[in-house]
Amino acid sequence: MDSSAQKAIVTPPRGRYVGHAKNQRPEPDPEFMRVGPGKPCGEYLRRFWQPVCMTEELGKGVPVRLRILGEDLVAFRDLSGNYGLLHLHCSHRNSSLEFGFLAERGIRCCYHGWHYDVDGTILETPGEPTHSRIKERTCHGAYPVIEWRGLLFAYLGPEADVPPFPLYDTINDLPGTEIVPYKIVYPCNWLQVCENTMDPVHTVFLHSRLNRFQFEAAWQVMPMLEFHETPARVYATLTYRWREMIWVRTQETTYPNFSQVGAFWEDAEEEKYFKRASITKWTVAIDDTHCMIIAYRSFGPAIDPYQRGKRELVGLQSVDFDGQTELRPYDVMQRDPSDYEAQVSIGPMATHGAENLGSSDRGVAILRRNIRNGIKAVQGGVELPRLPLAGGEVATYVQDTVMPFRLRSPEEDEKLMKPLTGAVMDIVRSGDALLGTARREFIERSLRDLKNDPRFSAG
Ligand code: FES
Ligand SMILES: [Fe+2]
Repeated sequence: MDSSAQKAIVTPPRGRYVGHAKNQRPEPDPEFMRVGPGKPCGEYLRRFWQPVCMTEELGKGVPVRLRILGEDLVAFRDLSGNYGLLHLHCSHRNSSLEFGFLAERGIRCCYHGWHYDVDGTILETPGEPTHSRIKERTCHGAYPVIEWRGLLFAYLGPEADVPPFPLYDTINDLPGTEIVPYKIVYPCNWLQVCENTMDPVHTVFLHSRLNRFQFEAAWQVMPMLEFHETPARVYATLTYRWREMIWVRTQETTYPNFSQVGAFWEDAEEEKYFKRASITKWTVAIDDTHCMIIAYRSFGPAIDPYQRGKRELVGLQSVDFDGQTELRPYDVMQRDPSDYEAQVSIGPMATHGAENLGSSDRGVAILRRNIRNGIKAVQGGVELPRLPLAGGEVATYVQDTVMPFRLRSPEEDEKLMKPLTGAVMDIVRSGDALLGTARREFIERSLRDLKNDPRFSAG
């Protein structure tokens, strides 16, 4: 063998091949990752109403076993139509109430017939003598629930601090919009799935440039990206130049885990103003290493005028766009990866210490910082910031606006896009003072005027 060639092969360049130096990964951050009872993040997440299941799951005449925030629970609809969410194990000798019998009022344990109302009151202990006071001495663990449009929401926090149910404007009878519930389980920690909405750059690469166009061709454009913080939420503005149009998209996360994104099939080809969410979702922690997206998909002429969404595909463990579940064959997942593959493959719990965040990750950093602030606030007994519930609903900012602005140089576009995006969001925010239809009409009308605004139309 040629000895000089052999020498070249066995001498790797220094400063590369650092596999051994980096082969011990840091531990996941327990403050973020642990969600069970008594854990800092778990106690924080318990301060918010969360969807726990689809009501469709409770329609089979039997109780449903759930795991939420590391707690084993049973959900049911009793024979009078009332919903309940109780600790799974019977207060007598701990049989599981998933095998209980539904009653006119509440549920009855299968083992010795203890009978529970939906608020945890023990109504009857039939094996005990009539003079027994056992049912007055104890109460079963129960959580308050609210049913809304096919989802069952629960509050798992301290009884004294139940916040008002935040009825978001996008799920409160938007004209021309039908909301359809769905639920998808992910085998990983909740935070890495929740972060997706504040990582909008992934749409350029995962859904467009590196792949087939999983949504629309306009999504391949790198948008001008800005993040905006308020005490209770963070929202991103993505501003695209697409042909003769400027498209301003707003997507948002309200802490800790409520997010909304605009139209999936937005192609930015036609003028439109203040189109709302195609998905309104909560990323709910099941336990430290499992979570679920429980959400509404929006359909109808207001959000999907060309009827590209497929309502019939939306439901339990199913939604109408690819790459959101584990149900595709592995080789298809490898050749056509999407959100599910990107997020779950991070691992059961993300290791933040092994990441290298860049400037495009500002949204993720803001989200994490404010969640950590929320965890500390709960630990310190400080009240958490919440979005105002004005006139019965919470005003949200998710939207798509597409305006005609003639094609110009990248330098001219840069000068146009920042103030134009600022003007769009000034209008959206100024609508906070109004309610419902009046707010929508004011925002739409004001946005429509922007294309003729001399600040932007000149040149
Ligand atoms: S274990 Fe439930 S009634 Fe006895
Ligand atoms: Fe995505």
